[in-house]
Amino acid sequence: MGRPHFCILLVVVFLIGILDSPVDGYRYFRHGRLGKKLEDSKPSKFERWFTQHLDHFNPNDEREWQQRYFVNDEFFNTTSRNVAFLQIGGEGEATADWMTNGSWYLYAQDFKPILFQLEHRYYGKSHPTEDISTENLVYLTSQQALADLAFFIEAMNEQYELSSDVKWIVFGGSYPGSLAAWMRQKYPHLVHGAMSASGPLLAKLDFPEYLRVVQDALRTSSEECANAVKVGTSQIDTLLLHMVGQRSIDDKFKLCDKIERSIDNPLDVSNFYLSLSDNFAGVVQYNHDNRASTVKLNLTVEKLCSIMTDKSLGNEINRLAAVNSLLLQTSNETCLDYKYDNMLDELRNTSWDAEASEGGRQWTYQTCTEFGFYQTSTYKPQIFGDKFDLDFFVKQCQDIFGPEFNKTFLDNAVERTNVLYGGLDIEVNNVVFVHGSLDPWHVLGITQTENTGAPAILIKGAAHCSNMYNPSDNDTPQLKAARVQIKDFIASWIDL
Ligand SMILES: *[C@@H]1O[C@H](CO)[C@@H](O)[C@H](O)[C@H]1NC(C)=O
Ligand SMILES: *[C@@H]1O[C@H](CO)[C@@H](O)[C@H](O)[C@H]1NC(C)=O
Ligand SMILES: *[C@@H]1O[C@H](CO)[C@@H](O)[C@H](O)[C@H]1NC(C)=O
Ligand SMILES: *[C@@H]1O[C@H](CO)[C@@H](O)[C@H](O)[C@H]1NC(C)=O
Ligand SMILES: *[C@@H]1O[C@H](CO)[C@@H](O)[C@H](O)[C@H]1NC(C)=O
Ligand SMILES: *[C@@H]1O[C@H](CO)[C@@H](O)[C@H](O)[C@H]1NC(C)=O
Repeated sequence: MGRPHFCILLVVVFLIGILDSPVDGYRYFRHGRLGKKLEDSKPSKFERWFTQHLDHFNPNDEREWQQRYFVNDEFFNTTSRNVAFLQIGGEGEATADWMTNGSWYLYAQDFKPILFQLEHRYYGKSHPTEDISTENLVYLTSQQALADLAFFIEAMNEQYELSSDVKWIVFGGSYPGSLAAWMRQKYPHLVHGAMSASGPLLAKLDFPEYLRVVQDALRTSSEECANAVKVGTSQIDTLLLHMVGQRSIDDKFKLCDKIERSIDNPLDVSNFYLSLSDNFAGVVQYNHDNRASTVKLNLTVEKLCSIMTDKSLGNEINRLAAVNSLLLQTSNETCLDYKYDNMLDELRNTSWDAEASEGGRQWTYQTCTEFGFYQTSTYKPQIFGDKFDLDFFVKQCQDIFGPEFNKTFLDNAVERTNVLYGGLDIEVNNVVFVHGSLDPWHVLGITQTENTGAPAILIKGAAHCSNMYNPSDNDTPQLKAARVQIKDFIASWIDL
């Protein structure tokens, strides 16, 4: 999430994965360590503000707020004015970089649309309320966000004098990939087509399949690599049993706080194991996605597996430690903070100035109230240990937002989301669902379908949202072909 990012979708709640824009710095958000607060960057020439309602579902509520958007008319056919592209913002700051980058920008050269991007409420600089207290977060829902997009489209039609038969095509990757499909589903009179990348359409409280795909990716790279992770993890189990072992864990994994003081706190221990699995999960999710940051750091599955199979580093636990050191280094952290309470302190902070206001707190809220998506260690066989189950994540919802966010509440919330949107039974046309087989999120999306009106493309070997970034000569033939197919679908919808 360097500054921006579209395609985050968290490796876990509070750990907003490794997300960033296609262009800039690498950021690794880990538990309890959400990273530096973004500096205010110079506003982009594309930046504008839009007056939005706070509560779309209560006409008596007249409160308004300023929502940020970006607009680029460089390709716009000002004679016909009949195509508009809208990039949907998600669970992080929106970035102006997308206004001149990515595959949608290449498509724009052919279809001559006006290009918009709307930042999601409660993220980035789009602040609907004075703080993000639990009370004020009630207006943070995907339904409100979709309604924001609807009002935005209506207003832009007028403001930019778009043709009465204008065709709006929406784009989104990750959570916004789901929003893109849902926009076409709920507002077909406004949205003509949607490119939905890596969108988890099915809300699911316990999501152990996530780590299964991560393991599979390691196994595909090499069986020896996945086995080394498993052996290394069981060596940790053994060392944690006695004090000498605990001290060597402190050292090897550069822990900020001595684990012997935490050994009786299962929440700290869970968070430690979870952090180690995230080292792998984050890299798998974004493997070879062409973002400048991941390319520069060469953080790939092959890289991690080359460490895990390097016998010169010593036994498997030392290789796990080497992977951990590499990831600490790339995120400029000097030690691994695994303390549950430190994480809570950050995620409980309700100020817009807090680090977690970059999205960690808000996205955690959306998982607790709409989606779940908890990447538990309950899948068997498991190479990352079995220390973080669903209870661990439910407890976080309660510890951060209040006791009423209990298991019953979460179960109901997830069921409600699937009733409102239909989960994988969504009925739409003019939507293309795109996924990467390496991306663990594909498990919760549509990857094959008989519906020719809403086709699915599963790109073999591709990661999260890969098709959205700028093309590279190193792209696989499958990824190159997918970009062309998507363009052909859009052409058929627009049919100029
Ligand atoms: C994004 O677009 C800008 C402006 O054209 C360009 O300078 C930048 O290099 C692009 N980013 C990438 C990753 O290509
Ligand atoms: C813009 O639209 C008009 C009217 O449909 C069309 O004649 C013209 O060729 C278009 N211009 C470009 C650059 O595509
Ligand atoms: C990236 O890492 C892999 C595995 O260690 C290595 O084979 C490759 O040469 C590296 N690439 C670059 C550009 O450093
Ligand atoms: C880490 O520090 C280096 C040097 O100061 C800087 O270039 C880089 O952007 C930083 N990375 C992150 C993730 O903050
Ligand atoms: C919340 O974060 C802000 C900004 O970092 C800080 O000034 C404030 O003390 C924090 N509040 C609490 C209650 O920790
Ligand atoms: C969850 O909380 C509600 C009140 O918010 C309560 O009625 C219910 O009994 C709780 N369920 C469990 C399983 O604790």
